[in-house]
Amino acid sequence: MDGERKTLWSGRFSQGAADSTLAFTSSLEVDRRLARYDVLGSLAHVKMLSRQGIISPGDGESIENGLRRIMSQIDEGTFAVQERLEDIHSNIEFALTDMMRDAGARLHTGRSRNDQVATDVRMWQRDAILETAGAIMDLERALMARASENVDVILPGFTHVQHAQPVTLGHHLMAHFFRLQRDAERFADCYRRTNVSPLGSAAMAGTTYNIDRLYTAQLLGFGAPCANSMDGVSDRDFVAEHLFAAALTAVHLSSLCEELVYWSSPEFGFLEMDDAYSTGSSIMPQKKNPDVAELTRGRTGATIGDLMNVLCTLKSLPLTYNRDLQEDKAALFAAHDRTVSCLRLAAAMISTAKFNRARMLAATRDGFLNATDLADYLVVKGLPFRRAHEAVGAAVRYCIERGKRLEELSLEELRPFSDLIEADVFEVLPIEQCVRRRTSLGGTSPEIIPVQFGEGETVLRKQGEFIAGERERLDRAFERLME
Ligand code: ARG
Repeated sequence: MDGERKTLWSGRFSQGAADSTLAFTSSLEVDRRLARYDVLGSLAHVKMLSRQGIISPGDGESIENGLRRIMSQIDEGTFAVQERLEDIHSNIEFALTDMMRDAGARLHTGRSRNDQVATDVRMWQRDAILETAGAIMDLERALMARASENVDVILPGFTHVQHAQPVTLGHHLMAHFFRLQRDAERFADCYRRTNVSPLGSAAMAGTTYNIDRLYTAQLLGFGAPCANSMDGVSDRDFVAEHLFAAALTAVHLSSLCEELVYWSSPEFGFLEMDDAYSTGSSIMPQKKNPDVAELTRGRTGATIGDLMNVLCTLKSLPLTYNRDLQEDKAALFAAHDRTVSCLRLAAAMISTAKFNRARMLAATRDGFLNATDLADYLVVKGLPFRRAHEAVGAAVRYCIERGKRLEELSLEELRPFSDLIEADVFEVLPIEQCVRRRTSLGGTSPEIIPVQFGEGETVLRKQGEFIAGERERLDRAFERLME
């Protein structure tokens, strides 16, 4: 143990904590990222204290000025943290008290670091969600732009990575779009539950001061104060929800990137990645590797891990605040940074990839992608679907044995499989026809795909309104606080 150290709780202790304890308990490296939010939260708190007559208007004003000065230092990168103070909240309070002694020492009236940190993380998370939602939108836009350029480009659709039925590239890319649309919705939904203020919950039981929690919530742009102070300081369900949304987004990105990886292999050759998002080999001069897509795929586990980390931290925690809760932030911040960078690079990869239409079309020649269409043809002629399935299966086997495609068989070769087959069968067998005729809602035909684009535009408009609306509302609240 080393000599006397000034801490936020030094009154109760006869000697300072060991260096090892200070190092072990410190969260400064992680939570310094909350600095701006901490100052904003304190500004709201002090405005309220002085409005309620809990501190004098003079003290209120000096504290506000001090906090604004600290905010400028944070913005300029000159705010000096003291490593021995365990977190950013203590650092800001100490800096303020250094500046204005007694007045500064009044800031913490009717508040605890427990409600303070919960408030800061919620504020940080609102901004984080808006940033992520923006990055999702950019990727959605990129997907839709490439989809609309490629509405009539035909490629095999796969199930079990086996040729299934032909689809259009536009249709395929829009499938990824709608997955991401739901991710964006999940983030927006999480935003609603994040946007609740724990400030004024104090340590856990509320406070004896005549505080105004509605006022601080409103100053910080929160939808409402939380209803229960014990809940307010203890739960991090909003963090877990955020991480689930991030983990599922990562899973969706991993599927997209998996396709980018194997579509760019010479065996597929469906696309070529832009040089900007590829790397080479240190030994094989010819190599061009899709490392960005691979790393995006490979980082999925880290985000799923961050979700597991926080869920395990929360599991069995008794009410209310427990120091375990400090561990939420490292996982949350890391997942957020990873999510945003993966989304941004995915958008860049999609926007710049060169699709090889000829290779895609050529791939549709193999694998009997029109077999379902032949069965459907027989059904229209009156055959029950199960029988039609059987007949076409036999025709496929016949083709495999002779190395032929269904559309290459003559009418004479086809008729033994069903005498319902007539010359008009050649109107349904071409691959282009298989695609063109799938006009059911949500289907792959270029005729019906514009419905998806219409829906996509509506989705993007709503997402854009949400992001811009909330950004402006929060910025205005923060500007007013800083005035
Ligand atoms: N660094 C702490 C955290 O992130 C702040 C709250 C500390 N509260 C306490 N009672 N020790 O959770």
